[in-house]
Amino acid sequence: MWCGVLPLSAIHSINMEDKIMRLDKFIVESGLATRTEVSKAAKNGAVCVNGVVVRRASGHIDPVCDQVTFCGREVIYREFTYIMLNKPAGYVSARTDDLSPTVIDLLPPELQRIGLFPCGRLDKNTLGLMLLTNNGPLSHKLLAPQKHVDKKYRFETKFPISESDVAELQSGVDIGGYFTAPCIVEMTGEKCGYITLTEGKYHQIKLMAEAVHNQITYLERVTFGPIVLDTALERGEWRYLTAEEQKMLEARGVEATKSEK
Ligand code: URA
Repeated sequence: MWCGVLPLSAIHSINMEDKIMRLDKFIVESGLATRTEVSKAAKNGAVCVNGVVVRRASGHIDPVCDQVTFCGREVIYREFTYIMLNKPAGYVSARTDDLSPTVIDLLPPELQRIGLFPCGRLDKNTLGLMLLTNNGPLSHKLLAPQKHVDKKYRFETKFPISESDVAELQSGVDIGGYFTAPCIVEMTGEKCGYITLTEGKYHQIKLMAEAVHNQITYLERVTFGPIVLDTALERGEWRYLTAEEQKMLEARGVEATKSEK
């Protein structure tokens, strides 16, 4: 670990013995800026390592032990980034789209550059909990069809849903050649409630509603596995997952791997 008062030329050689990382890479991967911006900021004296201004962004640091600030902000290193977004209508769940804005467009520019992608798909007009990450293997574990990570949605329908509709939806309905897996439907009114699925076929809830001669008029995802939509987030707002949420999600990924065996 480098401890502050050494000449800058010493950073590299000292840290070569530890788990080192280039300073500019460290800041770029934390999602704060591009490499060019980091280099410029460093030249302007806006990058500090352990309280000392470092003007050469190509130097090395220990991401665990060294304290880095960029333009006065402490840089928290994240091997992977996990974001919770409250998706508004009108955005597609993709990294890019030729016609419509994507959920990635709702993030600040520095977060658009670190390879984040939506963990699962919501329809363009579906609202609510969208997780974004650049942890491909975890995302794959959570989304693979046989992994059964549950997702809960609040819905409203055009017509009342009867008890027999609920029973039918819960035991499984035919959505165009595919018979849906058992799910949980909790009604909170005659035309609204929650549905919890363990799978995610394209337009699944809309098609399930159609299978019982109804129509979805509102759909919002409220949970994804152990993660619950933060109601403090307005539509279109995002935040990082907390360390606790991240741990729960990773644990769910591990469980999913076990259930696969
Ligand atoms: N089911 C749907 O029909 N749409 C979604 O966005 C999610 C689940």
